[in-house]
Order: sequence, then structure tokens, then C-alpha cells
Amino acid sequence: MKLLVTGGAGYVGSVCAARLVETGHEVVVVDDLSTGHADAVPDGATFVQADIADVAADLLTGGFDGVLHFAAKSLVGESMADPAKYWAGNVLTSLRLLDAMRDNGVPRLVFSSTAATYGEPEQIPILETAPTRPTNTYGATKLAIDHAITSYATAHGIAAVSLRYFNVAGAYGRFGERHTTETHLIPIVLQVALGTRPAISIYGDDYPTADGTCVRDYIHVLDLAEAHLLALANTRAGEHQVYNLGTGTGFSNREVVQTCRDVTGHPIPADFAPRRAGDPAVLVASATAAAENLGWKPERTDLHTIITDAWTFTRDRA
Ligand code: UFG
Repeated sequence: MKLLVTGGAGYVGSVCAARLVETGHEVVVVDDLSTGHADAVPDGATFVQADIADVAADLLTGGFDGVLHFAAKSLVGESMADPAKYWAGNVLTSLRLLDAMRDNGVPRLVFSSTAATYGEPEQIPILETAPTRPTNTYGATKLAIDHAITSYATAHGIAAVSLRYFNVAGAYGRFGERHTTETHLIPIVLQVALGTRPAISIYGDDYPTADGTCVRDYIHVLDLAEAHLLALANTRAGEHQVYNLGTGTGFSNREVVQTCRDVTGHPIPADFAPRRAGDPAVLVASATAAAENLGWKPERTDLHTIITDAWTFTRDRA
């Protein structure tokens, strides 16, 4: 298929673009490099450095079979401090993209949605039918885009799949996580092992969990990429399917730090800091819908494997 990959110079986008190229698709990456890196665009993909909102209408005249839409602003804290950046950067940009798809008859869309669309869960594991009450602007903008996609799928026959990522981690060869502003737990802990940060502060040790720290569902970025390939192959005209992507297993922040010590051999000093605002105690996906309907089965579910891949990437780049 001829595919447009927005945000293909970012973390998840670059891994997916690499897998799409490797599986024989013709890939055009569009990325404004506001957070992505030009050298993360895989060999074999055509790269257009631009804001999608500006170029979608022109680009999509080129006979595309589908779009994978990764490009987004994705820092929860920033989304609360500067909501306009998120409503414009995520929602308006996505509407421009959907309009261009409609106008050019582009039939398929796979969209990067998020567990943040659910907000504080009532039940664990979280099903796709759970209430969507995002607790931050980032999640609200992703949910708004999901709603827009449903409308465009119904009205214009677009075959769409939204994939709601839980905590993405790990790396795929030279493609990995390298944010200028890093807020995620595993990369921050690995910076301690690398010696670029003195210690990790764990936010909160008084949560109602087994060891008092938050629990998250870590999904290897390569398993995530495989889900995108399956989603692309299983779109249905006029339907908007929504799937959680997690493993169904949670690991606590203490377990993550300990596994990073095991993997790196570094003592990784840790202290406890107050809870971070807006952090739910437990976020674990029910991934049965993606298994049943897409045939998706994550294979790198072991936390040690996930962190080893992230560490290899981090150390090789250092
Ligand atoms: N944490 C620390 N110390 C740090 C960084 C994080 O203790 O220095 C903790 C957090 O408080 C949380 C856990 O590590 O308990 C995981 O935090 P991350 O920031 O790595 O990930 P989140 O679970 O907050 O974020 C994930 C996705 C987001 C999504 C969010 C929804 O990565 O894209 O869930 O809540 F928006």
C-alpha cells in the first residue's frame, strides 16, 4: 500500500514506519521535526519536513491507500499549562488531515489514541467500553479526535482504527525514545544508569497498590507496531474500530526501577516525592478486543526484555 505516516520521525511513528517499509509498503513520512528527529526516518521512506495542517491537502492528492496518524503534542503537563497548543496542534491538525482524506478519497486511517482518553478508571482492566472522562487536556484532545474520526468514518466511508496505547516502552534497533523534554519513567530511570541524572524520584508511595507505588501496563514498541500493521489490514469501510494496546499486566514503579537496576547493573538511587497531579493509581488494559478482532498477540511482554531493549538503545546512543 502507499501510506502517509504523520509523525514518522517520532518514537512510535519511526518504529511503525520502519516496520511498514520492511513489510513492503511505500511510505511517505511527514513530520515538522518539532519533537521528532530527521535521522529517525527509516531508510526507504520518502521524507517531507512540514506541518501536516499545511500540506495534507496537497500531499494526499497523490493516490494514497491510507494514513497512519502519529503526529501529536503528547506531554500531559504541558497540555494543562498551554491547552491552545494541544487543541490546535492535535485537534485542528487532525481535522485538516481528515478533510484532506475525505476530499481525496483516501480510504484508510490508523490513529494513535491513548489510555489517557479514559481518565481515572472505574474498573481494571480497562475495556474499550469504559467511560471516557479524560483528566488532562492531552487526553481530551485525543478523545475529541476519536469522536471526529467516528463522524468522518460514518459520513464519508473512511475505514478507521484508533489504537489506545498504554505505556509504550522499549526500542527497535536504532529506533527508540529520545524526547528533549523527557517525562516518562523508564527513560528517566535509564538516564540515572547512564550517569546523566543523579537519582530517580518516584512520585508517591502511598497509593492503594501492593507496594504503594503506581502500576502501569508497559507495551513494547515493536508489539505496538505489529498492532498497527494488523489494524491496517483489518479496517472496514465506514467503521471506526477502537482497541486498547497493552498487555493486561501491570508493573509498579518500584518494580520498574528494580528491573532497571537488574538490567543495567547500576544501583540507581531512588527517593520518594509527592504524588504527581493527575496520576491514576493503576492503569492496566484489557487487550482482549485487539486479540480477538485483529489477531494481535504481544510477544515481548516481559518487563526485563522491554527494559533491556530500551537500555541497549540508550547506551548505544550515548
Ligand atoms: N514517574 C515517577 N517519576 C518520574 C516519572 C514518572 O515516579 O520521574 C511515575 C509516574 O508518576 C507514574 C509512572 O511513573 O506513576 C509512569 O509515568 P509515565 O510518565 O512514564 O507514564 P504515564 O503513565 O503518566 O503516561 C501514560 C502515557 C501517556 C498518557 C498517560 C495517561 O505514557 O501518554 O499514560 O495517564 F497520557
